[in-house]
Amino acid sequence: MVLSGNDKTNVKNVFAKIGGHAEEYGGETLERMFVTYPQTKTYFPHFDLAHGSAQVKAHGKKVACALVEAVNHIDDIAGALSKLSDLHAQKLRVDPVNFKLLGQCFLVVVAIHHPSLLTPEVHASLDKFLCAVGSVLTAKYR
Ligand code: HEM
Repeated sequence: MVLSGNDKTNVKNVFAKIGGHAEEYGGETLERMFVTYPQTKTYFPHFDLAHGSAQVKAHGKKVACALVEAVNHIDDIAGALSKLSDLHAQKLRVDPVNFKLLGQCFLVVVAIHHPSLLTPEVHASLDKFLCAVGSVLTAKYR
């Protein structure tokens, strides 16, 4: 997934606008994913997945931080998320299809909070970015 210069600018702008809300949006994204796509819950049998769960919020914060890290190193996402890629591919073995679902939910959360921000062009750039992150996190499966 190759991001153009324009895509990178769009993604950086989105995260600049989101600012300090990223962590909160991470939690909302997970909660939405678990409700909309219940099959994703199978990876979290050890979590309390009830509405408003502190565990989900805390995990959402971690996911959001990883996304911010990827934005901050948008020219080397593979390097920035290398350890996380090892974890997801070698230990967690999350089916790659789930990354699309998480990405989809993140897009919806951004759209809800910032309706005017997500023009079709920005939507496309953010989608490409989330796909790139998903590709990195599933690159080491064997
Ligand atoms: C753990 C990020 C997608 C399942 C983690 C951690 C981060 C992270 C930062 C914590 C690592 C640590 O504690 O060292 C991401 C990002 C994703 C993504 C950025 C995509 C944008 C997914 C998906 C699933 C998943 C789609 C499954 C539906 C898990 C599980 C853990 C985990 C089960 C371990 C949770 C625990 O026991 O604490 N992920 N993740 N991840 N992730 Fe992901």
